[in-house]
Amino acid sequence: MLDMSANSTPKQGRAGLLGGRFSEATDEFVEAFTASIEFDQRLYRQDIEGSKAHARMLTHISVLTDDECAQIVDGLSRIESEIEAGQLAWRVELEDVHMNIESRLIELIGDVGKKLHTGRSRNDQVATDIRLYLREAIDELIALETDLLGGILELADAHTTTIMPGFTHLQAAQPVTFGHHVMAWFEMLWRDRERLRDCRRRVNVLPLGAAALAGTPYKPDRNFLAKALGFDSVCENSLDAVSDRDFAIEFCAATALTLTHLSRWCEELVLWSSQQFSFVELPDRFCTGSSIMPQKKNPDVPELVRGKTGRVNGHLIALLTLMKSQPLAYNKDNQEDKEPLFDAVDTLHGCLTAMNGLVPNIEPNINAMREAATLGYTTATDLADYLVRRDVPFRDAHELVGGAVQRAVSQGKPLEALSLEELNGPGEDRIGEDVYQILTPDGSVAARDHFGGTAPAQVNAAIERARQRL
Ligand code: ARG
Repeated sequence: MLDMSANSTPKQGRAGLLGGRFSEATDEFVEAFTASIEFDQRLYRQDIEGSKAHARMLTHISVLTDDECAQIVDGLSRIESEIEAGQLAWRVELEDVHMNIESRLIELIGDVGKKLHTGRSRNDQVATDIRLYLREAIDELIALETDLLGGILELADAHTTTIMPGFTHLQAAQPVTFGHHVMAWFEMLWRDRERLRDCRRRVNVLPLGAAALAGTPYKPDRNFLAKALGFDSVCENSLDAVSDRDFAIEFCAATALTLTHLSRWCEELVLWSSQQFSFVELPDRFCTGSSIMPQKKNPDVPELVRGKTGRVNGHLIALLTLMKSQPLAYNKDNQEDKEPLFDAVDTLHGCLTAMNGLVPNIEPNINAMREAATLGYTTATDLADYLVRRDVPFRDAHELVGGAVQRAVSQGKPLEALSLEELNGPGEDRIGEDVYQILTPDGSVAARDHFGGTAPAQVNAAIERARQRL
């Protein structure tokens, strides 16, 4: 941690690259308060990559000579090695990663290093760095999501005929297949991956060349820069290029939504792995014990993923609030974009890694699931549908079946244990012997045999389509 409590004794002169205009040293507290090096050093690779591209572009437009460019590029590579070897001491008085690297470059190669910042500002520099960083992060996250989607498909494929209760209001509602349930997870995460891909398109636009806010007199070749740095296009407006962080907000929104989905799956895993449900067994290596209760096997990993959703929701609000009401163009407020963004990336990365370990290793307790699917009169709707096929209007069928359920409840029996007389009720005879097969959970799921339905044949088809998409 930086010491922010320092006394406000002005030093003589300024250590940094910006000293010329000032007659006294920066207040030590202000120095620490305004510095971002503690967290933006994470952008060193992107900063160096951007600087190399900038030097090459300056050479391409004849602002630098080939020799100057070679010295700068070489110096930057040496700095990268120094950082990676832990040899560069970051200096708070140099404020941020950009000035730390530039200052080190000047130390290493002398006056030529002072030419690097020609036609550039930290404003377009930092915007470029963040976009490069986020593009790479998104690619990694997409790869993790693709793995997880594959893991879900395997799990679904192994359980297209495994029966479980489907719930509404967390009350057993109708039987579904476990494969169908986890394919619902697949669809959520599929859309999350789409959102990241979509967000990437707006991240991958080049701000460099906008300089402080208005552009520069050097006629920078921004297409050259875009090509060198792998950007798909160039920011159209220099003011917008240096000031907006909407792409980071969008990323946080996509991340918050992804974690919201993961929190829902995790909630289910927590419930299902409880003694009360006993639907699934989670791998021991993903669970932890209690310091006092020797019998405990706690689902800490899904609980933590569920909990981490809150952090990212917070980061989204932080970024939205940071951007709100900012006048054009760059404002120092934007320095506050990094910590929420980095933490959103790290949190999603960690949660996806956890889910990749967890999901393919979920062991459903097939018997307990089936057993639960038979409780709670989950095939009552099937009985109503049966009566509809015998020309009873659905609302009347609903009423008749309600009576049958009431009789079953009062006898403490499942529907299929009632006699035909009891199922029909007084003065009714439209329910016949063939009803018993539709009252089974297997009959119930098999009947839902249409696109998007839970019948095993449909789940197989959905898995096949998902494989094609993936
Ligand atoms: N550390 C700054 C940031 O993250 C870099 C840009 C500073 N620009 C400026 N004009 N003070 O936003």
